[in-house]
Amino acid sequence: MTAIQVETKGQQKVAFITGGNGITGNAILEYLVTKTTAEEWSKIIVTSNSPLASTIEDSRVVFIALDFTQDSQKLIKQMQTVCAETTHTYFSSYVHRDDFRELNYANERLFENFLLAITSIAPNLKNITLQTGGKYYNVHIQPASNPLREDHHRAVSKSENFYYAQEDFLKDYQKNKNWTWNVIRPQAIIGSTYKPNGMNSALSFALYFLICKRSGTKAPMPTNSSYWEGYDDMAYAPLIADLTIFVSTQPRCANEAFNCTNGDSVCWKYFWPQLATYFGIDPADASSQLTVTEPGDGDVQQPFSFASWAKDKRPVWDKLCEETGSASSKKTFDCGTWQFQDWVFGRTWSALLSVSKARRYGWTGYMDSFDSFIATFDELVRQGIIPPPAARQ
Ligand SMILES: NC(=O)c1ccc[n+]([C@@H]2O[C@H](COP(=O)([O-])OP(=O)(O)OC[C@H]3O[C@@H](n4cnc5c(N)ncnc54)[C@H](OP(=O)(O)O)[C@@H]3O)[C@@H](O)[C@H]2O)c1
Repeated sequence: MTAIQVETKGQQKVAFITGGNGITGNAILEYLVTKTTAEEWSKIIVTSNSPLASTIEDSRVVFIALDFTQDSQKLIKQMQTVCAETTHTYFSSYVHRDDFRELNYANERLFENFLLAITSIAPNLKNITLQTGGKYYNVHIQPASNPLREDHHRAVSKSENFYYAQEDFLKDYQKNKNWTWNVIRPQAIIGSTYKPNGMNSALSFALYFLICKRSGTKAPMPTNSSYWEGYDDMAYAPLIADLTIFVSTQPRCANEAFNCTNGDSVCWKYFWPQLATYFGIDPADASSQLTVTEPGDGDVQQPFSFASWAKDKRPVWDKLCEETGSASSKKTFDCGTWQFQDWVFGRTWSALLSVSKARRYGWTGYMDSFDSFIATFDELVRQGIIPPPAARQ
């Protein structure tokens, strides 16, 4: 504890959050605005590719739109006035592609351009925290030993996983510098955004259950028996923000990567019916039916895909929004991240991340996973993204 006080006392910090419209960046912004004082964090600079969608108000917040596909020299010109005071920076910009090769290509450069620019213009820099994720362990493609720890060996070459490239670039570039690095690796993020993004489980589930309820159909989970009976964990976005700020401001956590999950695990066979019940669906109508007999390494199986299911559901959603006086939620139909969810639910293996390391370093954050979904659904209603609870009657 002494080390923390030494670092924070008397030193105002200036945050620079990237991906401010995203599921992670928005959570970090809300965390700093609602849980910290101007004595601790004097300024909170936020960037996103498009104008900031958050309605959060705090005189400390300064927004700048930046496109990190531009080379660092161009970025330096745009950032040098607004971002020069940065002490702590949080990178959660991300370009989603459903094709894994395209995903790697799009994200590698994004981080490099950002890193070269911020390190050139911020002389008081103390920490750069990069968010990667469970895909670091290649669990989106093949099984790995559970629970996965931060020092797990790399499953593929650097060119096949952009997280390796991003993390290596950060660590190599930090050598002999007087700032520190951290990496946060969350599991599937449960949270809300004001803008559509590429991976949003809670929003996709809400759309699915509400449409099934409105149509009077069953709501099976589009997965196979191995995944259905297996275990999973997830990470609530505000909890990720909590860990991120914790590790990036504590000297003892310097230059380390940390997994992030809620701290519990769920078995889908029980959890999916619980979520269905929340949306007024009989849990008996929410089971999965595809039996996997002999899954091979990396075998993917689904009884049906979310992406094809969603194709003809827009009229149902529109009608539901009209009937519940929530016409502004109609556009939410385009925010379902069906293909991402299909990658996940097609897997015939479970993947769990260990959070023992974060615990060992003193982090005590925890969130019940069911509660993380309910809190997120409530937030989606509050923001007018999904209709109010009457839609579940
Ligand atoms: N979402 C999940 O379930 C999940 C799970 C585990 C790990 N992760 C990882 O967490 C990291 C952050 O992902 P996320 O899901 O939080 O992101 P996200 O919600 O998809 O948000 C992405 C952010 O990046 C910004 N962005 C996109 N293109 C950009 C560009 N060219 N220049 C600058 N900014 C750009 C977006 O800006 P605009 O919206 O303004 O265009 C948005 O603010 C990624 O590495 C991701 O793989 C995510």
